[in-house]
Amino acid sequence: MRRAIVRGTGHYLPERVVENSWFEDKLDTTDAWIRSRTGIERRHFAADDQGTSDLGIAAAKAALANAGLQADDIDAVIVATSTPDYTFPSVATMVQAGLGMTRGFAFDVQAVCAGFIFALSNADAMIRSGQADRMLVIGAETFTRIMDWTDRGTCVLFGDGAGALVLEAAEGAGTAEDRGILATDLNSDGKYRDLLYVDGGVATTGTAGHLRMQGNLVFRHAVEKLAATAHRALEKAGIPEDGVDWLVPHQANLRIIEATAKRMNLPLEKVVLTVADHGNTSAASIPLALSVANSEGRFQPGQIVVAEAIGGGLAWGSVVLRW
Ligand code: UT7
Repeated sequence: MRRAIVRGTGHYLPERVVENSWFEDKLDTTDAWIRSRTGIERRHFAADDQGTSDLGIAAAKAALANAGLQADDIDAVIVATSTPDYTFPSVATMVQAGLGMTRGFAFDVQAVCAGFIFALSNADAMIRSGQADRMLVIGAETFTRIMDWTDRGTCVLFGDGAGALVLEAAEGAGTAEDRGILATDLNSDGKYRDLLYVDGGVATTGTAGHLRMQGNLVFRHAVEKLAATAHRALEKAGIPEDGVDWLVPHQANLRIIEATAKRMNLPLEKVVLTVADHGNTSAASIPLALSVANSEGRFQPGQIVVAEAIGGGLAWGSVVLRW
């Protein structure tokens, strides 16, 4: 049975780091509030002349270098993003061109903060069905471009960045002992649109719009749905809860992460945390966390890694893989 294994990881964070205190003289907020309610301490802001594709290209180059591969070794590029440079072409084709790839195919996936989980699930299906042997799966965002800087309930939460994985086909036995992606679990429910959305777009206002969120309601859905999707994916993979070595959660709020880890009976030492330094980077948050943890040598071959995310839609899901 073909499996999609992780061959390399990479990430890119824009140079400009913005501490919580930066917001204090602009809004009725404090470093103490942001830290205690979210766990966020700082985030990165893309430069004015940096687009999402620039972040994605940098992360992709880092992942290729980590995998020891060239751009032409890649058959396909998927970018998960809700903040594309342009309405079209896709960010993925811009990354393809930026890498100098002369073959293959590229497309974007839009499932907001859960985008990387949806992209990974698509890539896994394509690799298992033989449509591609090696794929770059990227999460890249410039959420600072859709912030309402007068809304203290949202603008302090988000940051910019990109992370990338190189996936490669490998033969497995078709058992839970295989390396690679073992199971995925995808969900969405469009009736929750009003909890988290952007109030603009091509076919409505003709503008990019600004992010709107009923944070406390999203919070409740997150706590309830994230552990449930992780449990479903573990069951599909045939991995017991105590077989999890690492949880790599969407980095939106430390309190959501702690509540999810508790529901999964996981100590925080088994949870990869980047929320303090990155803030919420939407679809980039999981590949950023995976790449940072991998660059620190935290994942050992054979370990079970679970990633989960929820975001606008609502859309949510999880992936179970053996490193
Ligand atoms: O990535 C997609 C998924 N998104 C998420 O997972 C985000 C989920 N939600 C959250 O992380 C949290 O709900 C927030 C961090 C957004 C808000 O925390 P909360 O504990 O749920 O606070 P709240 O929205 O219930 O608001 C409590 C109070 C309110 O004041 P009043 O009405 O009680 O007077 C807010 O106006 O906190 C106030 N508040 C702030 N105060 C200082 C909201 N934002 C701020 C702020 N600084 N930046």
